[in-house]
Amino acid sequence: MRLTVLGTGYVGLVTGACFAEMGNHVTCVDRDAAKIQRLERGEVPIYEPGLEPLVAANLRQGRLRFTTRLAEAVAGAEVIFIAVGTPPRADGSADVEDVLAAARDLGACLDHDAVVVVKSTVPVGTTERVEALITEALSARREILTVDVAFNPEFLKEGDAVNDFMRPDRVIVGSRSARAIALLRMLYAPFTRNHERLLTMAVRDAEMTKYAANAMLATRISFMNELATICERLGVDVEQVRVGIGSDPRIGYSFIYPGCGYGGSCFPKDVRALIRLAQDAGVDAQLLRAVEARNQVQKRALFDKLTARFGQRLAGLRFGLWGLAFKPGTDDMREAPAVTLIAQLIEAGATVSAFDPAAMTAAQATLPREWFEAGRLQLSNDQYDALEDASALLLVTEWKQFRNPDFARMRSAMRLPVIFDGRNQYDPARMAAEGFEYHGIGRGG
Ligand code: UGA
Repeated sequence: MRLTVLGTGYVGLVTGACFAEMGNHVTCVDRDAAKIQRLERGEVPIYEPGLEPLVAANLRQGRLRFTTRLAEAVAGAEVIFIAVGTPPRADGSADVEDVLAAARDLGACLDHDAVVVVKSTVPVGTTERVEALITEALSARREILTVDVAFNPEFLKEGDAVNDFMRPDRVIVGSRSARAIALLRMLYAPFTRNHERLLTMAVRDAEMTKYAANAMLATRISFMNELATICERLGVDVEQVRVGIGSDPRIGYSFIYPGCGYGGSCFPKDVRALIRLAQDAGVDAQLLRAVEARNQVQKRALFDKLTARFGQRLAGLRFGLWGLAFKPGTDDMREAPAVTLIAQLIEAGATVSAFDPAAMTAAQATLPREWFEAGRLQLSNDQYDALEDASALLLVTEWKQFRNPDFARMRSAMRLPVIFDGRNQYDPARMAAEGFEYHGIGRGG
């Protein structure tokens, strides 16, 4: 099939490359000319395992193209995906201006029948607006075309996105057009060969499903983080409780890991957008507001433990920090707990030496310059270098290489053998045996 993908962000690029890999001819279009030039050379501007080889191979084999020109990109396309960003506004709602602009632009240049699929995460009702804008623009040009619209959310995890796309748990298609559903069923068939995993529903139901999935996962995390705080006060080890409840198949083990807060470009933004959407519909989303509020509190957890141990004024103290990305397997630092923690430490007068296996370049480029210039934040080349003269280690992101480090080497590098483990990676008993003072999350036992 001939496909077009609007937007070469993380979702658009994974979508384009994976469809091309299945034999389709895909043109990806973006207004950012510099990005398109890099992509044409096979350079992928984001850190996503497996994506660059996929892009390079499909470029070479002529199934994947990149351009900045929309009219050229949509020529002959049977299915056009809108995968542009929906950044948060100050009030928490999702800004869908780029999605609506894409709809207008499509209406202005389409000259053949097509199916337009919204992939961006959008508030309920947005896909209907997309449909209306396309119809309006076509009729203004007196074009009589059949352009059917669908909403098809992405469920990609950063760091595992190619795998998630290639082997989806489910593919959700919201549309009232039988033609759109049939085309998307054909397009996704190679990914869902052994089991029928494509679910169809009304457009608005599908739009809500996307928010509901992320809000549910965020709720589980905030629930566990709250429970951890209670456990800590009561002399209970939340890790034992986690294993104890996870063994109930109705609960399960996933997304019940307590930690120092969820981050990334999806959970925080989508929970806030859903709260806002509810508010606009006259509903006070009390539970979701609590999920968000708990996460804000949780992002302070390590700092509060640290000041309880060292006092409010941290001037003259250096801390080693492991993990800058919002989770392992990515270099993405959006809404990362590490960034909040570094800001708090610097504000309290401390100095931070940080190490991350993937996010060093991103950290250099995105964190405030004054932190570096004032010598308050240093990026270390190695996880052990980050601990030189440190009064404590702060483990914020659970990269595998932090699981079983050389504890003797750590002890000899550090000024004090103190660990604040924001992801409960270590066994408190082992830490005691290794001679460390250990502070985890919810480990009161
Ligand atoms: C999330 C969803 O998992 C994807 O299904 C969804 O498609 C994506 O958002 C999106 O909407 O695009 P992602 O943001 O890449 O994916 O990251 P997750 O792996 O879900 O982790 C989110 C955050 O929750 C991380 O900060 C992680 O450390 C935290 N987390 C996760 C916990 O604190 N505890 C857990 O048990 C699990």
